Amino acid sequence: MVDVDEERINILKDGRVPLYEPGLEEQMVKVSGRLGFTAELGPVAREADVVFIAVSTPSGEGGAVDLSNVEDVARTIGAEISGVKRERPLVLVNKSTVPVGSGDYVSMLVREGIEEAGNGDASFQVVSNPEFLREGSAVHDSLFPDRIVLGADLREALGAMRALYEPIIKQSFFTELEPRPRSAVPFVTTDLASAEMIKYAANAFLATKISFINEISSICELVGADVTNVAAGIGLDERIGPRFLDAGIGWGGSCFPKDVAALRAMAGEYGYEAKMLAATAEVNDSQRKRVISKLQQDLHTLKGKRIALLGLAFKPNTDDIREAPSLEIARELTVLGARTIGYDPVAGKTAAQAVEGLDTTQNPYEALKRAHAAVLVTEWDELRALDLKRAASMMAEPRLLVDGRNVFEPKIARDAGLLYRGFGRG
Ligand code: UDX
Repeated sequence: MVDVDEERINILKDGRVPLYEPGLEEQMVKVSGRLGFTAELGPVAREADVVFIAVSTPSGEGGAVDLSNVEDVARTIGAEISGVKRERPLVLVNKSTVPVGSGDYVSMLVREGIEEAGNGDASFQVVSNPEFLREGSAVHDSLFPDRIVLGADLREALGAMRALYEPIIKQSFFTELEPRPRSAVPFVTTDLASAEMIKYAANAFLATKISFINEISSICELVGADVTNVAAGIGLDERIGPRFLDAGIGWGGSCFPKDVAALRAMAGEYGYEAKMLAATAEVNDSQRKRVISKLQQDLHTLKGKRIALLGLAFKPNTDDIREAPSLEIARELTVLGARTIGYDPVAGKTAAQAVEGLDTTQNPYEALKRAHAAVLVTEWDELRALDLKRAASMMAEPRLLVDGRNVFEPKIARDAGLLYRGFGRG
């Protein structure tokens, strides 16, 4: 594994993982003898049969993807492999989420790198292999994916990739890791552009599914229905499915916001206005605003009010705060003069650094002390199991609980002495 960040490489060499991801460290220990870490790309590019490019592709101007990391790596690989003779072409796998057409662009940059280095020709093929794992369940999703997507314009590279993924496709390791046999994982092969598009379309669809149920939740509030019952009812229709129908504060993280924006920007480059994607993003933005409205509805002015934010990471089981709803809510509350006290099992420190005025505590009850309101932002198991009676006893009037993930039973929360407000719960 190669990374330009030497500190990260040193942490990995020590057998530690530089981020919070359940099960990853144990998994790395199991295969430690077969893992190497270095900050030098050169020798790796020259000797490897397959190189995965998995660098970050952040949002650039107007939501378009900033490809500079991919560009640097592609040129460097080109320069390093220039003149290297090999039996089979080097397979360059694009794992980073990149705009449609980037596979060809990467090929062009590698070719430029080869020519600029001037050590002679080199053979390589670029393929696209989008990543669908979720943070917080990365190990599980990597070993047991719903599908593996491979885009290549040349068949030779497809064969090499199929061979590489064979243990996962055939689930041949299941006896060691899982007691029950699983069926083979679909290996979807397609052209480069379609593989790149599959990633965007999948994330945009999931984000839209969440925004859809959030819109339904707003209507539920008006008409007096409970969105959790509605989601259960529609989710049983196999064409809809039960997952990603949890209404609440909405989606954040390093993928959905960036990918929805990038897909819109990509369409825009061709003069197409992606109207549904615009609405998907708009509904998501309004979910954060609904939190503020709910607080104002019961607390009226927020000036001087203490508000506890329970959970700060963008979702449970990760320390990632990128595009986390908590940050936006904390900033808005600070603007409105409220005092915010946050708690998160792992992301407290980074969140406090990211938002001026956000204090954090070591446990949820500390955050709830004298709080006029609490917002459940991230549904960590620890927070789902919150002792609501204890919470109510520590809080100040009106003891408002805004359940941003609809995880508590309204009646139980009310019986515990809290003023309960969920999302779309009648
Ligand atoms: C997502 C995709 O799921 C994954 O396939 C892709 O590779 C990367 O992007 P991730 O961002 O790790 O993964 O988290 P995910 O579990 O998809 O949740 C994304 C956001 O949606 C979170 O903020 C989560 O809280 C929110 N969400 C999810 C909802 O608000 N409601 C739901 O029903 C599900």
